[in-house]
Amino acid sequence: MCGIVGYTGKKNAVPILLSGLRKLEYRGYDSAGIAVSTEKGIEIVKLKGKVRKLEDKLLSYPLIGHCGIAHTRWATHGKPSAKNAHPFRYKNFSIVHNGIIENWKSAKDELISLGYKFTSDTDTEVALICFYDLYKKLGINAAITKLTEKLKGRYTFLFIDENKPNEIIGIKSGNPLVIGQNSDAVFAASDITALLSFTKKAYFMEDGQFFVAKGSSLKFYDFAGKKIEKSPEEIKWDVKEAERGGYKHYLLKEIMEQPDSLNRVMAGRLNLFDDELRETIAPKGRIICTACGTSYNAALCFKYFFNMLTGRSVTVENASEFRYQPFDLDSDSLVIVLSQSGETSDTKEALLIAKTAGTNTLAIVNSWESSIARMADNRIYMNIGPEISVASTKAYSAEVMLLYLLALRIAGEMGVSKEKLQIWRDKLSLVPEICTHYLSNITNIESIARKYYKNKNFFFIGRGIGYPVAVEGALKLKELSYIHAESYAAGEMKHGPISLIDNDFPTIAIAPDNKQRAVLFSNIEEIKSRMGQILLISDKKLEGCDILIMPEIDSWLSPFVYILPLQLLSYYIANLLGNDVDQPRNLAKSVTVE
Ligand code: AGP
Repeated sequence: MCGIVGYTGKKNAVPILLSGLRKLEYRGYDSAGIAVSTEKGIEIVKLKGKVRKLEDKLLSYPLIGHCGIAHTRWATHGKPSAKNAHPFRYKNFSIVHNGIIENWKSAKDELISLGYKFTSDTDTEVALICFYDLYKKLGINAAITKLTEKLKGRYTFLFIDENKPNEIIGIKSGNPLVIGQNSDAVFAASDITALLSFTKKAYFMEDGQFFVAKGSSLKFYDFAGKKIEKSPEEIKWDVKEAERGGYKHYLLKEIMEQPDSLNRVMAGRLNLFDDELRETIAPKGRIICTACGTSYNAALCFKYFFNMLTGRSVTVENASEFRYQPFDLDSDSLVIVLSQSGETSDTKEALLIAKTAGTNTLAIVNSWESSIARMADNRIYMNIGPEISVASTKAYSAEVMLLYLLALRIAGEMGVSKEKLQIWRDKLSLVPEICTHYLSNITNIESIARKYYKNKNFFFIGRGIGYPVAVEGALKLKELSYIHAESYAAGEMKHGPISLIDNDFPTIAIAPDNKQRAVLFSNIEEIKSRMGQILLISDKKLEGCDILIMPEIDSWLSPFVYILPLQLLSYYIANLLGNDVDQPRNLAKSVTVE
């Protein structure tokens, strides 16, 4: 899940490619590189480390050229190093790649038997030399046809050719590739945020397509080499949204902008998707929700809320497991997939399986025109603008809000009374205001973070709707602070986990005012009596516990409000530990490999 970017046009390619890489760095940031067609031919600068290190290097080794490709990496094949950094070069070609070539080993062995030598441990170099070998024999279009038949896996490639300066070729098979165009240039990138500063006119590539661009001329072909027509889209996001807006980190900006993003999610949706979902969506059969990571945790809230509304159960599955389980899917079922990036590999495969089984599919996504959005029968966009920080926050609350509104829609189709639905619509419409009030009156989260940031282990517990909030809270702390954090339904503690409790293993208890709170408080007493420290997230104090006091709200609204102190706590603890808050180690924003 790397970020790739390309440019051909009248301007110097380097600053444009570097600005694109900076916008794509959330996709992977262990090494970076650039290849530019200069007067001397193709020149490459690459290194282990972040884009800013590449920028520093280019200050002492300036490159000038009107055409180039660049890359920021999340290592899959070959550890992060200058040797394995992209771009690669072989003879007159240079390549950058996002994705995985599954049959790289056999392809490599075949090329070695033909006498080719390799300089890296990557699957990308295999693809490059494979392309060269075919090109030598067949010429460009036929080489692309053969290459895409030969290589298995999901990938996007950008090539430049020393013999054709100012020309870029881009191939899409499974991973995202968007092309931008303005009056004097063509841009290519893994996602639109890298293009926003230069154009609002974009072409979304489909799998099985490639493009050839030179200057501002742009042609599209299918893998058989047949020329195809594509129509551009007007991008609705503005570049400012992809900026930090004065905040120290994208994460803090995205946490603090949740009242606004929730308003944008709900705009025109309190009619329960009358415009977007014209057909009946309530299935006769099962409802299955599948996703990964934070999106999966949002789906857990849907399970509880929908059950409360209708008494019916929803199956919530990790997409990475769902894709291998023989679910009895049929046309009576509804499969809902959730994805901020719209490109997560496991979620995409899960969607494909559901579609193949003839099941009605609905995708809730943020990234405009992403693969998952285009694959699903129905899609609902979050409309919250780009989410840049790797740890997902505003997309989580947006997903929960859309799922709650979807639950109301389906409940209505199942006969739940209009009055009951109206009560919930009214409650949900107050959420942005409640969040605004909470975020502007926070007092002691930083001091609480200072008290706890040295702990090595945490439990997060909750009951009822408080439990899925605990699950997401634990994930945020893990991915931002690298501290071990486990979430449990509080009732489970005495069936084993409570044996870990001591005064070095604090427990964060999510205690909204629901019918299970009394028993949750007795679970807390069980932990306290074993010297366990308790940090309570609640509107009700408890003796002997630290507390992050919350407003008195309906407990079903806690996924939107109680998640705020948990997101901020993880942010402040990560800061105190000196971690890279927006780009935590080992993670990437869009997981496009299995
Ligand atoms: C969340 O903070 C993580 N970035 C990760 O768990 C993420 O939620 C997961 O990879 C799913 O991403 P998606 O919503 O883009 O599909």
